[in-house]
This record gives sequence, C-alpha cells and structure tokens, in this order.
Amino acid sequence: MAHVAVIGSGLMGSGIAQVAAVGGWDVLLVDADKGALERADAAVRKSLDRFAAKGRITAEDAEAARARIWRTTDVEQAAKAEIVVEAVFERVDVKQEVFRKLSAICAPETVLATNTSAIPITEIASAASHPERVVGTHFFSPVPMMQLCELVRGLHTSDAALDAARAFAESAGKTCVVVNRDVAGFATTRLICAFINEAASLVEDGVISAEDLDTACRLGFGHPMGPLATADLTGIDVITHATENIYEDTADPKFFPPALLRRMVASGAIGRKSGKGFFDYAELSTGLWT
Ligand code: NAI
Repeated sequence: MAHVAVIGSGLMGSGIAQVAAVGGWDVLLVDADKGALERADAAVRKSLDRFAAKGRITAEDAEAARARIWRTTDVEQAAKAEIVVEAVFERVDVKQEVFRKLSAICAPETVLATNTSAIPITEIASAASHPERVVGTHFFSPVPMMQLCELVRGLHTSDAALDAARAFAESAGKTCVVVNRDVAGFATTRLICAFINEAASLVEDGVISAEDLDTACRLGFGHPMGPLATADLTGIDVITHATENIYEDTADPKFFPPALLRRMVASGAIGRKSGKGFFDYAELSTGLWT
C-alpha cells in the first residue's frame, strides 16, 4: 500500500487527505493542533457521507477511505511516507521549518510537495535537503469537488519529483496542469488576482455595480461565479495579501491592490466569513456584521 503524509489538517489538508484515501492511499494526517485533527475527521466524515448519499461512492468505500486516514500530532511518523504534502499556514517561515523537519526525518528520495498558493517553491525548497525533490501541488478549494491540481516546478525540481506529484494527484482524481517557471502566484493565482483587481477597480470607479459586474461574467462568459463573489468566498484579506505578494515580486502595477480592496480589509468587510464583502451574507455570519 502506498503511503502519503499530509502535514496540516485544516481546510486544504483535510480535503487532500480525503481524496488521497479515496484514491487508495494510506494517509497519515499530521497537525500541530489536536483540535484541528478532530475537526478534520468530522469534515472528512461529513464530506464522504455526502458523496455516498449522492451515490458517487458506496457507503462501504466511504467508510474504508475514512479508515485509511490516520491522525497524529507527531510529524516523525511521516518517515515512512513515499510522498509528503505540506498544507500548513501560508507563511514562509512556518513552511520552511516543516521542510527542515521533514528533511531530517524522511529518506532523501521522498517527494516533498507543498500546497502553497503563492510562495515560490524554490524559497520553500531552500530549507530542504535535496531540493530537487520539492514540488508544488496546488490543490483548489473545496478539494473533494475541484478537479484541478496546479503542479509547480521550483528552480531545482527534478522530472522524477514532478512525475511523482502528478501520479499522486491523478490517483486522487485530479487533472494536472504544469507551471514550468516558479513565478510569484504561479498561473492561477496571478489570473484570479488580476481579474479581481480589475473587477474591483471597475466597481470603485463607478463604472458598473458589483451585482452587474458578476452577472456580466456569469451570463456573458459562462463563469459559474463572478469574480467579486469569488473574492468574497476566498476572503478579501486572502486575495489582497496574495496580490500584494505578487506585486512585491514583480512590480507589475496590475497586481497593486485597488484602494477599495485595501479599505475593505481595513474595515473588516472581508467576505463571507465576516458576513459582508462585495455582497451581504448576514444570515451566514456569526461575526462582525450580525
Ligand atoms: P488552515 O488554516 O485551514 O489549516 C492550516 C493547518 O496547519 C492548521 O490546522 C494548523 O494547525 C496547521 N499547522 C500550522 N503549522 C503547523 C506545523 N508546523 N505543523 C503541523 N501543522 C501545522 O489553512 P488552509 O486554508 O488549509 O491552507 C493551507 C495551505 O493551502 C496554505 O499554504 C494555503 O495558502 C494553501 N491553499 C489554500 C486554499 C484555500 O482556499 N484555503 C486554496 C489553495 C491553497
């Protein structure tokens, strides 16, 4: 049986663990926070039950997948994994510390993947021994639903590591695209940041209302969700931080976050999780605006 360790059991890590287990992997899910591991178990159970209720997986297969996920706070147990996928907080110091630890624990040929959405792979890999085995595996949220995995080559990533990451993601039911150069924001984060920045600027300048802008994208382009609803879902704070990082790296003005985004972050109107962003979610919120 193939072994994968997933480090970080939050939104993304729990989803990656789930799709890997459904794909037949034995999964070790590691988190520094015991509570997060318990929440991950509940989230995986709920998601698998939903898939079973829809007939997309049998109840037996759902239970078998859940039983293939082991949970621990002890990262040393990741030693026997063939591939490790890191999904801890989006902070380069936290990620580098994890890669330092993994380098000490894992065999030199173990593939070390990171789910970062914007930090350069090469920067994370600089903390690892054998940086050629470090690769980006950027899954999308919610992982059990979204089909894409964006594979990212760092400066030193070997073909073998990229192939192993692709085999892992495909076995977890995903379709991969490859980003050949380790640019800030890769391909997808750059696209969505540029799109949301332009959408926010049009609203800020009074050219079009937020409602009409999203309607235009849904009905005119066939997008399932407009860019402003996407920003609300992802978090205006997350998007603003991501675009600031890309701007810092590229000095390309199209990534400079419009004042509207920055003011929304300052005021706490950061999207669904706060109850208000470009749109109102008061009924969903337990936070600021209710
Ligand atoms: P999250 O905050 O839900 O989960 C992170 C987990 O990592 C927490 O449970 C935390 O306790 C754990 N953790 C932190 N430091 C740790 C350490 N040193 N050792 C073990 N566990 C540790 O974060 P989320 O949203 O799951 O994001 C994880 C990664 O995935 C980030 O790099 C993020 O940028 C990326 N990502 C997030 C997406 C999203 O929509 N949330 C989409 C695509 C990528």
